[in-house]
Amino acid sequence: MAEAARKARVAILISGRGSNMAALIAASRADRSAYEVALVFSNVPDAPGLGIAADAGIPIASLDHRGRGGRAAFDAEVLSILRGHGIEYVALAGYMRLLSEPFVTAWEGRMLNIHPSLLPSFTGLDTYARAIAAGCRLAGCTVHFVTGELDGGPIVAQAAVPVRDDDTPATLADRILAEEHRLYPAALDALCAGRLRIAGQRVLGLAR
Ligand code: GAR
Repeated sequence: MAEAARKARVAILISGRGSNMAALIAASRADRSAYEVALVFSNVPDAPGLGIAADAGIPIASLDHRGRGGRAAFDAEVLSILRGHGIEYVALAGYMRLLSEPFVTAWEGRMLNIHPSLLPSFTGLDTYARAIAAGCRLAGCTVHFVTGELDGGPIVAQAAVPVRDDDTPATLADRILAEEHRLYPAALDALCAGRLRIAGQRVLGLAR
């Protein structure tokens, strides 16, 4: 029997409920997946997502970011945890921390984030309310490479949903979240399979 191809070792970083994390884990279990989830890390020790990961048999780690001597010192500790687990790629999934420059540099071209807007519109927080208030007829989500610019790295994949007349930020968030769960595993798989090429601000190779 042919030996299964080695899967890339991914760490998922979370701060909260971890629904994108759960979608990434589920997709990783397909035979054809290019990645395995080798670690779920959180800066919030009681993040609900950690329990979901542990129940799924994934190694977990956490470190409270408070009282750790600042952002750079905390990120250095996280980096050493990731290295200790032999991590090759990082997926931010609701990881609500600004990252220090050395951490971003360490994962250049190997770290993705998912953001709940159609970037470059609506970087930062409150994306759903801002899209509704701006009168957008489409909203959505974006998977992008992480650079030093907040929500500003090269875009890998996007999905759009309609904004309905009676939408609230919560109903719009639900509709977008369903797309996030579909989009993120496909984008991470493409990265880990070596299919993506960064050309300036563009990313080529996602569509086959
Ligand atoms: C997701 O909607 C994700 O796009 C968003 O946080 C949520 C996390 O949900 N990320 C950001 O806002 C990053 N700026 P989850 O924990 O259920 O995956």
